[in-house]
Amino acid sequence: ALTEKDLQEIPETGIDPENPGKYQEFLEDLQGNILKGHGRDYSVHLFLKWIPEQVEPAKQWIKSFAQTYVTSARQQADEALKYREQNICGSVFANCLFTRKGYQALGFEPFQIPKDQPFRMGMKNAQIRESLGDPEVTEWEQYFREEIHALILIADDNPDTLSKTVEEIKAQLCEVAVIIHQQDGFILRNNKRQVIEHFGFVDGVSQPLFLKRDIVNAQTKDCNFSLWDPRAPLDIIVVKDPNGKKTDSYGSYLVYRKLEQNVKGFREDKKQLANTLGINNDLAGALVVGRFPDGTPVTKSKVPTSTLTNNFNYQDDFPATKCPFHAHIRKTNPRGDTGRVESSPGFDEALAMEKNHRIARRAMSYGENDPNQTPETGSGLLFLCFQANIENQFNFIQARWSNPDRFVQVGVGSDPLISKPKINQKWPKQWGEAETEDYGFKLWVSMKGGEYFFAPSLSFLTCLA
Ligand code: HEM
Repeated sequence: ALTEKDLQEIPETGIDPENPGKYQEFLEDLQGNILKGHGRDYSVHLFLKWIPEQVEPAKQWIKSFAQTYVTSARQQADEALKYREQNICGSVFANCLFTRKGYQALGFEPFQIPKDQPFRMGMKNAQIRESLGDPEVTEWEQYFREEIHALILIADDNPDTLSKTVEEIKAQLCEVAVIIHQQDGFILRNNKRQVIEHFGFVDGVSQPLFLKRDIVNAQTKDCNFSLWDPRAPLDIIVVKDPNGKKTDSYGSYLVYRKLEQNVKGFREDKKQLANTLGINNDLAGALVVGRFPDGTPVTKSKVPTSTLTNNFNYQDDFPATKCPFHAHIRKTNPRGDTGRVESSPGFDEALAMEKNHRIARRAMSYGENDPNQTPETGSGLLFLCFQANIENQFNFIQARWSNPDRFVQVGVGSDPLISKPKINQKWPKQWGEAETEDYGFKLWVSMKGGEYFFAPSLSFLTCLA
């Protein structure tokens, strides 16, 4: 069995699914998409509510769905290897996740339900909404106001295969569950085929890394992590599955949020910011996000240089004259700023604490799929992230770092990408110079609803009935 130490320590070159050693059972029983994104271009999310009189058939259905479709971390890695070596495409990818109410509806007792507090409270909870700065539930899209029990995620690179599979699954499902909503998602790409989000910025660059291949690739690209080490221990992403049937049965909590992006509004505000500061549009956008659209970190350069690096921190930019403290990526990953601002508990400890707040982002886009369009409504990000502790990870980042105008220090302002402004942010008038100008960047992202889920182990899913 994996020990606590195995979960806390980071193996030098990560976990290697090709030579799993002591991690074999763990990888076979853990759902895919947690340690590494599934990588498929199209995905469908089905939100379900179990039919009360059909609990036993529902359990039967979950069992057979898990056996046929749900992909383990091991299978995901095996398929990726086959694709690299023999160009054989992977099968349809699937995850199966439950809410607290979903467990209850299937007849589980409180002691059998995963313990995370926000997971148990649910995202509609008034206290949670208040701490995250979320709108009233009455303003959420209709289906998110319903009681949600489960989320089925199905993904494939071929949209036709995907929709055919989804139709088959829906036909079986309607016997045991109400399909509250079907959400389609896709990977949006720029003309260089890089993954972007609707505002046009390359996304998914900085992630905690767990697996050998990802670590070795990043190490080669990013000079041995001299300035930023993305490796992460398992205890930030998995917890024991209380209902797992194996010695090493683990699961992970998923935060799901539908975030609508007003692309036209964002672009106009960015232009206004550029005019106010007398700088170009690209640099204005980079001051908002912390990276240029092509991924170049603005702390490293005042012009885009197509540098998709993750090997940087803000040590040489402590007055934040190049990348403002409020920039989205500096708010959501301060890379040591907290230890630079506060003298206790000391820099190394502060950095280690910051790193425990990391999340594994697994987002996809929805709505308009032509990146040249500028939709105001109906398009955005299906923000998904996995973690071991919601309060200390997603909720912490949103509520304690992005939203407050006094993080990382008084007067900084809130994260212009994902938080309602309370005070104007201060923007460098010239890159690298101390003089600032006040400007209140408006919020162009609206939260349309969401929920907390748990991705249980495969042995639990396949032994349900
Ligand atoms: C990074 C966009 C919502 C957390 C990024 C990046 C972009 C981006 C362009 C830079 C690429 C990268 O480093 O991977 C967006 C957009 C959002 C959104 C458009 C909403 C529509 C969120 C939310 C959170 C979040 C809700 C969590 C509360 C992060 C984190 C990073 C990141 C942790 C990596 C920072 C780093 O390690 O340097 N986001 N994001 N994002 N975002 Fe977001």
